[in-house]
Amino acid sequence: MINFTQIITEKISKATQIKEKEIKTYIETPKDTKNGDYSFPCFRIAKDLKKAPQIIANEIKEKLEEEVKQDKSIEKIEVAGGYINFFINKEILVKEVLEEIEKTEEYGKSEIGKGKNVIVEYSSPNIAKPFHIGHLRTTLIGNSLYKTYKYLGYNTTGINHLGDYGTQFGKMIEAYKMWGKEYNLEEDPINKMMDMYVKINNLCKEDEEVLERCRENFRLLEVGDKYCVDLWNQFKDLSMVEFNKIYNILNVKFDSYNGEAFYSDKMEEVVKKLEENGKLTNSEGAKIVDLEYAGINTPCMIQKADGSSIYATRDLAAIMYRAKTYDFDKCLYVVAYEQNLHFKQIFEVAKYLVDEKYAKGLEHISFGMVSLPSGKMSTRLGNVVKIEELINGTIEKAQEIIAEKNPELENKEEVAKKVGIGAIIFNTLSTATIKDQIFDWNTALNFQGETGPYIQYTYVRTKSVLEKAGFVPKFEDVNVNNLLDNFSLEILKLIYSFENVLIQVTEKNEPSILARFLIDLAKAYSVFYNENKIILDDKDVQNARVYLTCTVGKVLKHGASLLGIEMPEKM
Ligand code: ARG
Repeated sequence: MINFTQIITEKISKATQIKEKEIKTYIETPKDTKNGDYSFPCFRIAKDLKKAPQIIANEIKEKLEEEVKQDKSIEKIEVAGGYINFFINKEILVKEVLEEIEKTEEYGKSEIGKGKNVIVEYSSPNIAKPFHIGHLRTTLIGNSLYKTYKYLGYNTTGINHLGDYGTQFGKMIEAYKMWGKEYNLEEDPINKMMDMYVKINNLCKEDEEVLERCRENFRLLEVGDKYCVDLWNQFKDLSMVEFNKIYNILNVKFDSYNGEAFYSDKMEEVVKKLEENGKLTNSEGAKIVDLEYAGINTPCMIQKADGSSIYATRDLAAIMYRAKTYDFDKCLYVVAYEQNLHFKQIFEVAKYLVDEKYAKGLEHISFGMVSLPSGKMSTRLGNVVKIEELINGTIEKAQEIIAEKNPELENKEEVAKKVGIGAIIFNTLSTATIKDQIFDWNTALNFQGETGPYIQYTYVRTKSVLEKAGFVPKFEDVNVNNLLDNFSLEILKLIYSFENVLIQVTEKNEPSILARFLIDLAKAYSVFYNENKIILDDKDVQNARVYLTCTVGKVLKHGASLLGIEMPEKM
């Protein structure tokens, strides 16, 4: 498809003798169309050229004027202050976009990531503990990043780094020994295990002897004691059944479930290598890596005084393993901001364990806290909202709304499921990753708000327009001159930017950019729909508008699917 940014970049680069790479990053898309479709702020290069921006702007304009007249893609250029504004040829834009959509099943899909390996690590709940709302956020952000990288041609691996190891399992084993018979774990596994964990934790605080037994259990687990390993497996299986229920409803998948336990026999290498590098120091019997030189005040603990490994050690072993196994260009960790320090530490230590290429590819996608309107939630206290309840509750609410809005609708349940889940996913992904957010289902389910259901509703509207029209014309039969009004152009410009939006999502690891795009597109379609009659006597105009409607539907559907949202055909 025609690349206007590239065309403009080349022209400015030629006129100024400044490298294209630099020029490209400065090009903006003005908010107000009065200022053109693209604009170049000359103050960016004023220092280099030792001239005032306005003078540069006029000089560039003069140089380009002749060329632009020849080249049909740019309609005109204007200077406004220190800016050069470019007005593109709308007809070319419209034709190119519609042609591209006609050609490909999956619009915006590309191969730009070809040959690059990306790992997205997401979800990663702790077994024997509830899956909380923070886990919901990593699951959905990770799932969306995973899909988007794939869509852009990256060889992508999704990993669920299960929290299935650590001293807490020593505690769980002890709890089971003490009270296992009282608890029917099968009945309500996670909650029962959680109760047991809370109880044993409290006991450990009072009774040093119990704590000692827990430590011993963990040691036994580490050396492969059958009783302990069997129990641990049972905890794990029971947890997975529960987690899989959530993954199934949300339609989230992983390529690997190698969690912490998987690395339990791969940690020696970490210790050995750090020792060889002279990085390990002793601190009261424990082995640590001092990171003060890197501005990190807390050292990274590698081995406890009793010889047992910790969370960080397993992460380091995982980095070594992943470098070897996946030869990754990027390895993304979608984990809450509470672990910022942890990732700073391990990324620093990783520099001594893997080649620079890999160390540089590590990235923590830190996300903010999620709360419900009632306030902050704490796992440790055990008063956690069960995610399944949250999801099912939202679906039920969606069903009520749908029953009211459209009592005649067939398969209401299926639609309610898509709408409820769409509401949750969109609500989660529409906030910038780093920001805290509140999940309130009244807001998330508002059909008129900036929500998942609003996007679904718009999609359904495109479908009903197509139904009314009776057929979608072929591209050859569309007269693009009928789509040069501002309402149509607004839509087409957005659709034109779709691939770029996806590239930005991967560059910034920020699905909210795609969420924003979908809202903008849905809004632009609503305006178009209200301002332009679609079903008309003038079939030439109707055909063009119906074709555009069909295009909007396709892009909304593909875009939403990259967030993990499915579209109902009716609602
Ligand atoms: N299991 C951890 C938790 O639930 C998150 C794991 C994050 N990933 C990692 N590689 N450390 O808090």
